[in-house]
Amino acid sequence: MNKNDLIAVFDSGVGGISVLRHLVRVLPEERFLYFGDSANAPYGTKSKETVKELTLAAAENLCFRGIKALVVACNTATSAAINDLRAAYPDLIVIGIEPALKLAADTFPGGKIGVMATPMTLREEKFAKLMDRFDESCDIFKIPAPGLVELIEGGRADSPETEALLSRLFENYPKLDALVLGCTHYPFAGKVLSRVLGEDVALLDGGDGTARETKRRLEAAGLLRTGEGQVMIENSANSPELLALSMQLLEEM
Ligand code: DGL
Repeated sequence: MNKNDLIAVFDSGVGGISVLRHLVRVLPEERFLYFGDSANAPYGTKSKETVKELTLAAAENLCFRGIKALVVACNTATSAAINDLRAAYPDLIVIGIEPALKLAADTFPGGKIGVMATPMTLREEKFAKLMDRFDESCDIFKIPAPGLVELIEGGRADSPETEALLSRLFENYPKLDALVLGCTHYPFAGKVLSRVLGEDVALLDGGDGTARETKRRLEAAGLLRTGEGQVMIENSANSPELLALSMQLLEEM
């Protein structure tokens, strides 16, 4: 492993681009290889075993490419497979992502906080433990959002369909102080969410924290690179439209 090796960033599809843009900002001199598994998205409605298998298979392929770190830019894959990944690659820096509930609870003590994430993330033990830490200090609402990932993968993040889906979804919840975006696809629906919920509802995600943690870990291992940065994007669906959408999402945020 050396400083010039790649940082791999993985997600079930285009969602992890919302984390990649923070990584590029925080680590502008690094070389990134982004891999989206859109051929198998969505992960969030699959079984834990299936998501674990898909994640381990993607990590194995990425490890052949000469990587110094793997950022799992997917809350669902992190809850299903982070322990197995760390056991399989003990010498690799492996960073996961989890819903930014701590940030929300610290910022809005006693507040009403929604956590929007995939059904799998919300039912996993990792999230139950996170929720246990904060459910006495604030009112937490679990909000699964089936169908939203598919709209974002289809390039319709800011569309009337997305607005209709989210308007229907939030009819069932009280006015929130903050909404934690516990799936890396959801920041791309940020504009629609603010229209539906009101500009005063804070939208919080874990992208910046994940990027800063990646920098800390590389620094501690003496693996930070200097030079011109680079971003390569690959996708299992092998579709020019998805690659174009990935580039567009990276540039627009
Ligand atoms: N982007 C993923 C996450 O952060 C999941 C999307 C999916 O269901 O595939 O949870």
